[in-house]
Amino acid sequence: MRINPLKLRNTHLIVEKYLVASFPWSSDMGNEVANTLGLNHVTLETKQFPDGESYIRYPIDITTYEGLILIQRAYPEQNNRLIQTMLAIHAARDMGIKNIHIVLPYLPYSRQDKRFRDGEPISLNTILSLLSLLGASSLITVDVHKPDAFKAPNMRCINVEPFDLYAGKIGNVSNAVLLSPDIGSLWRVKKVSEYLGIPFSYLEKFRDRVTGEITMKPKELDVTGKEVFIIDDIIATGGTIIEATRILKSMGATRVYAIATHCLLLNMADSRMLEAGVSSITCSNTIPTKYTEVYVNQSVIKALRGLIA
Ligand code: R5P
Repeated sequence: MRINPLKLRNTHLIVEKYLVASFPWSSDMGNEVANTLGLNHVTLETKQFPDGESYIRYPIDITTYEGLILIQRAYPEQNNRLIQTMLAIHAARDMGIKNIHIVLPYLPYSRQDKRFRDGEPISLNTILSLLSLLGASSLITVDVHKPDAFKAPNMRCINVEPFDLYAGKIGNVSNAVLLSPDIGSLWRVKKVSEYLGIPFSYLEKFRDRVTGEITMKPKELDVTGKEVFIIDDIIATGGTIIEATRILKSMGATRVYAIATHCLLLNMADSRMLEAGVSSITCSNTIPTKYTEVYVNQSVIKALRGLIA
């Protein structure tokens, strides 16, 4: 006889291991995760009250599940979407869900991972601490800005790397260089290079912490007659890629391609990058754009398998 979970609700008998719950703009990912892992999937209800406050609701009784995989694309509207995530975690914990695994493919506030100027918060730590305090057991993100800074008390932090996917996208090229626009992302190009066996280097970048203005210093780098693939975690204003492209072109690069995991593309960054001479822009689906060509879902699923096994 098939057990009816509704009848067991009041007995607190757990009949299912994991439920996948995704926010509406993340349901493509939610569906793929659930289908691949053979789990049920629901889309959370959301609305905004007239005063701007957020509302979320699980559309089914989640108390018959032992664990929850919560998927939220936290950009755009990152402040609102982080609040939604927190409401969903706390509600699930409140309802007795033991294991709560969060997937935020793009982690907002991750670039403020230290106190750059006196008096600033370390915003990344604030966000991670809140998620952990509210009851998240683990947090999966993709290509976090600085993996070393991605840690929190009582919450497992897992960074999914998309570098094999980037290598697959670049494919067999000759006379090419992989380039990090600053030393902070050098490890990324090094990892992609391990798959492709092509040389890699970086530029020296300085950002004015008050104005945000970027300056770059060309270093000894032979890009004459070469195709250059710039690989970075984030394209926000596009300033970094534009300045790097200007320098690379002046040094004789034939073509410059931009590859980034999280494409925020602020203030028409894409048009400005293309005007500056970038031949193509390739982004992942952590933030869907018309440049999305790399799909990280299966890499995220691999990380989830390790958590729910
Ligand atoms: C900085 O350290 C990051 O890796 C990116 O290079 C940066 O966030 C890109 O920002 P933007 O597009 O505004 O120059």
